Amino acid sequence: MKITNEQKEKIINFATKQLDNEVAAGIDHFKRDYHLAQVLAKKESLKFNEKILFAATFLHDVSEDEPHWTGAAKLAGKFLKKIDFSYVEIKEVQHAILEHTPNGKPKSVEAKLLHDADLLDFLGATGIVRLSIGAWDWMGKSSLQEFLEVFKKFRKIASEGLVLKASKDLAKDKIKFMDLAIKQLEKELKI
Ligand SMILES: [Fe+2]
Ligand SMILES: [Fe+2]
Repeated sequence: MKITNEQKEKIINFATKQLDNEVAAGIDHFKRDYHLAQVLAKKESLKFNEKILFAATFLHDVSEDEPHWTGAAKLAGKFLKKIDFSYVEIKEVQHAILEHTPNGKPKSVEAKLLHDADLLDFLGATGIVRLSIGAWDWMGKSSLQEFLEVFKKFRKIASEGLVLKASKDLAKDKIKFMDLAIKQLEKELKI
């Protein structure tokens, strides 16, 4: 069955309520991921189930448990049942959520799209901004030298984890920018 506007609205409301003041992995990150996933699908000529992709994208980071993907998959399962997703649909959404991490093994089209979109959002100018917030907020880093190490780490895991060819193409400019930012920051931090 197709996703209804009412279901979309309920998912966005649930995610918003769940996230509180999260900036680096909040609603605008989900919107960017959803947009990126659609761009990738078009470039790869992949047909996807909008219902699965929408729910997985807007719910993939809704938990603060460790690890967040298993927490998010559980929360998504409970919530989607309430808004009439079928058992099979819930399992598909949960697969995409569970495999969205850099070394995840996405099998379905929707899982691959979310996985790569999510990694792309760690790269480029967006990546630098999100990782700056994340280094401080999620990882408790307190010096720019430590931020620099976070940028280098994510530049490597995000670029090496991409599975679709279109994602690797789209990542090129983002990586170029990130390498420049890393090099410049390295230079500026030499005191
Ligand atoms: Fe995540
Ligand atoms: Fe994410």
